[in-house]
Amino acid sequence: MQLSVGFLLALLATASARRVVPMTIHRQIAPEGLPVRRRGTLRPTLQEDLGNNMTVGAYFAEVEVGSPPQKMTLHIDTGSTDVWLLSKSADLCTLTVLQSLYGKCKDTFDRSASSSYETLSLNSFEIQYMDGTGASGDYFTDHVNVGGLNVSEVQMGLAKKATSSWGMLGIGYNTNSVAKEIYPSIVDQMYNQGLIGIKAYSLYLNDLEATTGTILFGGIDTEKFTGTLKSIPILRDEDYGTITHFNVSLTSLSTTSDVSGTSENFVPSSSVPVILDSGTTYTYLPRQVTAPLFARLNAVDKSLSASNPIVFVDCALLDTDPNLYIEYQFAGPDGPKIKVSIADIIFNDIQSYVDSGALLTPSLPFPKSRTCSLGILTSESGDVHLLGDTFLRSAYVVYDLSNDQVALAQSYMNATRSNVVEIARNASGRWVA
Ligand SMILES: *[C@@H]1O[C@H](CO)[C@@H](O)[C@H](O)[C@H]1NC(C)=O
Ligand SMILES: *[C@@H]1O[C@H](CO)[C@@H](O)[C@H](O)[C@H]1NC(C)=O
Ligand SMILES: *[C@@H]1O[C@H](CO)[C@@H](O)[C@H](O)[C@H]1NC(C)=O
Ligand SMILES: *[C@@H]1O[C@H](CO)[C@@H](O)[C@H](O)[C@H]1NC(C)=O
Ligand SMILES: *[C@@H]1O[C@H](CO)[C@@H](O)[C@H](O)[C@H]1NC(C)=O
Repeated sequence: MQLSVGFLLALLATASARRVVPMTIHRQIAPEGLPVRRRGTLRPTLQEDLGNNMTVGAYFAEVEVGSPPQKMTLHIDTGSTDVWLLSKSADLCTLTVLQSLYGKCKDTFDRSASSSYETLSLNSFEIQYMDGTGASGDYFTDHVNVGGLNVSEVQMGLAKKATSSWGMLGIGYNTNSVAKEIYPSIVDQMYNQGLIGIKAYSLYLNDLEATTGTILFGGIDTEKFTGTLKSIPILRDEDYGTITHFNVSLTSLSTTSDVSGTSENFVPSSSVPVILDSGTTYTYLPRQVTAPLFARLNAVDKSLSASNPIVFVDCALLDTDPNLYIEYQFAGPDGPKIKVSIADIIFNDIQSYVDSGALLTPSLPFPKSRTCSLGILTSESGDVHLLGDTFLRSAYVVYDLSNDQVALAQSYMNATRSNVVEIARNASGRWVA
């Protein structure tokens, strides 16, 4: 848990002087009947009857909006930037026919019950996610209480129409908002209002078996990772000439195992740009990487199946090769390395569908009675590549929008201790890990 040289921290004694906003996050299985959020694809999502059990959960945070405050449970998304809420009168929240398709509304916002609600522009909010879900309505501002702190004048969308049964806490770059003009994001507002000393936050999703993790705005918890936090630059979006996503360079991916040894690097000669996206459940990598990886894991790739995109893998791997890890490295041979245990990415969640014949199963190189699914899939050619929760649970990640860098260290899962420090900056405004 050491911090490398040059990493600037202010270890401040009193909590009141510490400009860190902590928030507990919860992993929740999607409500019944909901398809999994699979942002890496524009193809149809899983059939609904499968949706329920295929889900390994998404991460949610509780905030309070308006005066008096209304409690909202929102999906945390580093891959998008707009914060939006479901209106109490949204079509999805009032029509059962829509609820049978997309699920019941989780929390809804009653604008007329908030004295601080201010409409910004009617019908100008419209967002579409890569999994096909979306929302549209008005832009408004109101106060948002995050982790006990009052962030005022936060611009948000109020969904009057939605195909997602929960609202979103988008915490990406403000250049990635769907609004016609760039506006200050909720993270910008926390910084502008002096609640945090830097536009940066750390995300600790924790173990797959754990139900809570944390997000720390403006801070780092040095007890939640092992080794050194190493920072790497964020890559520019070529289409916009600016940074829009947490896009980083994956330079190596290999497997290590005490049974079968270490594999070669599966990343082609150059590197692969990948986006760190907490709003995506799985990980999506290009075929050049997944083909040799899946061959190594004896997995059968049906990622591009229109109805049920699944990578089939032998559940027995968990017993025969329990210390098999996938090792990701970023930004070259000196960059941060993150090991992901196969125990965290092999899911025993499709067997009943295989048994009942509900899932068309390809011919498999292992007994049908041992069918598991893998949390890494092949991205469609031309699509972006995403490191979703099946990567992010293994990493402690500091997303630093002030300095356009991301710092990564191996997550210390199930950590029970905590040591929160504010991320501070030196005179030239830099912190470097
Ligand atoms: C949040 O701050 C605003 C002023 O910026 C204030 O009007 C409002 O009452 C505060 N809300 C809460 C819940 O403290
Ligand atoms: C974390 O705790 C859960 C639940 O007790 C356990 O299943 C899991 O193996 C633990 N993970 C690690 C990495 O120790
Ligand atoms: C990610 O980085 C690559 C390589 O620099 C770039 O071509 C691409 O446009 C970037 N994508 C996004 C969404 O930022
Ligand atoms: C889906 O999961 C629920 C509980 O998690 C279980 O009771 C049910 O049998 C599962 N359905 C199938 C088809 O596996
Ligand atoms: C701030 O930190 C950076 C990185 O360690 C260093 O290069 C720079 O010289 C420092 N600036 C000042 C004014 O201390």
